[in-house]
Amino acid sequence: MSRESEALQLDAADPGHRELFDIPPVFEGRYPEVAYFAGNSLGLRPKATRVELLEDVDSWAALGVEGHLEGQRPWLPYHELLTGPAARLVGALPTETVVMNSLTVNLHLLMVSFYRPTPSRYRILIEDSAFPSDSYAVQSQARFHGYADAVVRLKPRPGEDCLRTADVVAQLTDEVALVLLGGVNYLTGELMDIPVITAAGQAAGAIVGWDLAHAAGNVPLSLHDWGVDFAAWCSYKYLNSGPGSLAGAYVHERHLGGDRPRFEGWWSTEAATRFEMTPESRPPASAEAWQVSNPPIFSMSPVRTSLELFDRVGIGVLRERSLRLTAYLEQLLTDVPVQVITPTDPTRRGAQLSLRIGGALTAGELSKRLRFEYGVIADAREPDVLRLAPVPLYSTYHDCWRAAAALAEVMAE
Ligand SMILES: Cc1ncc(COP(=O)(O)O)c(C=O)c1O
Repeated sequence: MSRESEALQLDAADPGHRELFDIPPVFEGRYPEVAYFAGNSLGLRPKATRVELLEDVDSWAALGVEGHLEGQRPWLPYHELLTGPAARLVGALPTETVVMNSLTVNLHLLMVSFYRPTPSRYRILIEDSAFPSDSYAVQSQARFHGYADAVVRLKPRPGEDCLRTADVVAQLTDEVALVLLGGVNYLTGELMDIPVITAAGQAAGAIVGWDLAHAAGNVPLSLHDWGVDFAAWCSYKYLNSGPGSLAGAYVHERHLGGDRPRFEGWWSTEAATRFEMTPESRPPASAEAWQVSNPPIFSMSPVRTSLELFDRVGIGVLRERSLRLTAYLEQLLTDVPVQVITPTDPTRRGAQLSLRIGGALTAGELSKRLRFEYGVIADAREPDVLRLAPVPLYSTYHDCWRAAAALAEVMAE
């Protein structure tokens, strides 16, 4: 049996939910649809998104301002439709979870509350390969408080690409005020040991927050049980909610309802008395107290559709298929001259495999060739890292075969 027919057989036995998604077409080549591996950058559109977004937009046409309280999904409590599914996805209580703003904005709002430096404890620990937005966010927070040298960047050991948990823990001195790491690193695909690092950080007296951009919808999370202080994540990657779509935020129960400083607006006050229009806010004892503005309904709509899909299928089921797909891709790549820099241990990674490519092509040039000659969509991080994420909702074993076969041909040149 050829490798290709083997992949097709695996797809027949383990099909996923591809039929629920719009898969972009290819313009040339043997196959009608692209083999899409960039769901860790921008997830594909669920078919239901267009239908349900139009329903929400049409409520506006039909009802005008009355749409706040009437129609299929009234706008006033609309954000609450997202809370339950988002909370279940990250293993949090509904009161600990809110969908609002975008990721970096949420990180800033949360750091306003959770980065409270003092002259003796002011350092912020992040990974050296943090997504640049996180680096800029923590540096600007530190400068805002007058601690320009606060940020400590965690580097892997010489010759290694990923961080070791013990090396992270070793950096937890009594000067560390905040640990803010990516749950899954955007570059290497490494899944950090969130419970162990959280517990160690807190034992050292620090607050521990997580950027879950590459973890939410990718791996199961138990933020509440792990005692994570706060977290934020975007919804345009594995959560398939569309470009620049709204983000999630989580605050552990023990921090709710207290007198921690927060930035407020009219959506930080409790819903029951919001329209009494008083000058004093009454924040609820929930993550909704971190909301500032009234929610953008037409941006929330795709998030709601997508979260409902995750709720129906279940992140546990998706993770099982993800482990099978990623292992299959990894096995096919053993025949290709690239170095996989993502951990080989499946418990230390999500869907993504990051490949260091040798040879004459840059990652950008290679990804262009894969796209235009083979219809394989991969994500390039210059100069030499190609990221491939088989997404368990819609990627196939045949996609994995196409990616490995295309890479083998181009790399052989
Ligand atoms: C790990 C990580 N953090 C932060 C961001 C920035 O997100 P946003 O532009 O939505 O604030 C991204 C975007 O890809 C990311 O991958």
